Amino acid sequence: MAIDGKTELYGIIGNPVRHSLSPVMHNAGFADLAMNRAYVPLEVKNIKEGLTGLRALGFRGVSVTVPHKEAVIPFLDDIDPVAEKIGAVNTLVFQPRQGGQVHVHGLNTDWLGANTALAEKVSLAGSRILVIGAGGSAKAVGFGLIEAGAEVIIANRTAESGKALADLLGCTFIPLAEVTNVSADVLINTTSVGMEPDNEGIAVPPSLLPGFSVVMDIVYAPLETRLLREARAAGCQTIDGLAMLLYQGIAQFETWTGKKAPQDVMRLALEEELQRRAA
Ligand code: ATR
Repeated sequence: MAIDGKTELYGIIGNPVRHSLSPVMHNAGFADLAMNRAYVPLEVKNIKEGLTGLRALGFRGVSVTVPHKEAVIPFLDDIDPVAEKIGAVNTLVFQPRQGGQVHVHGLNTDWLGANTALAEKVSLAGSRILVIGAGGSAKAVGFGLIEAGAEVIIANRTAESGKALADLLGCTFIPLAEVTNVSADVLINTTSVGMEPDNEGIAVPPSLLPGFSVVMDIVYAPLETRLLREARAAGCQTIDGLAMLLYQGIAQFETWTGKKAPQDVMRLALEEELQRRAA
């Protein structure tokens, strides 16, 4: 659809942000539904000024990425209770109000993305889930899993941050070096281990993998990480990193548009963009 005076504006704010796959995904969705909307990457250094600019320019919704997911919170008009508990926001909705005011609501769809991807393969309530890593992604994923009634174990290389996240979530911590002592139904890698150019990297010993029924990686470049390749060979069901990216995006799209997202079109757009970049 051609951009014109009626085009509604969306985007992603972060720094860096030029590598983001979200524009390709959301623009494919808008085009498929013939919606006059456009989604652009916006490199924002100062979040307070960035938000003022977005309000003034009439943006209707934005995704928020590193390093602004936590820093944006003080500048919102209200925040979803789960996002508040997680302490991070990845989605903003701008609602024009009478008198020219713009109300900004923040929510978090990262945890929904992980839960939706997992729920296709496993029932989360009562499952034992080993989460590798203790950064921002592990925090959102861990909160979501606990929200869904799963039992979570955090394994991390650095004990201090691993314990801190486990305390926050009210779950168990284990040092990454001792992960071979753990048995669980699901393994989720939230670290960057295995991401290009570290293609042969793997966060846990491959000998551990036959014990899991589902193995999920949040790394999507390469799409099949060594972790997923070894897991598939060990007979586990696997979930690739595009699944979480896609489902968190679908939740954003549906929040912004109130319409069912064209999931297959959005996934295909992501896959084609990854292939284009790899060529
Ligand atoms: P994000 O916000 O994407 O989760 P992050 O906050 O930088 O990113 O967190 C990265 C996570 O990956 C951390 O848990 C980190 O472990 P440490 O706390 O020990 O730093 C983990 N990580 C990164 N590289 C790793 C590696 N080579 N081996 C094990 N864990 C690694």
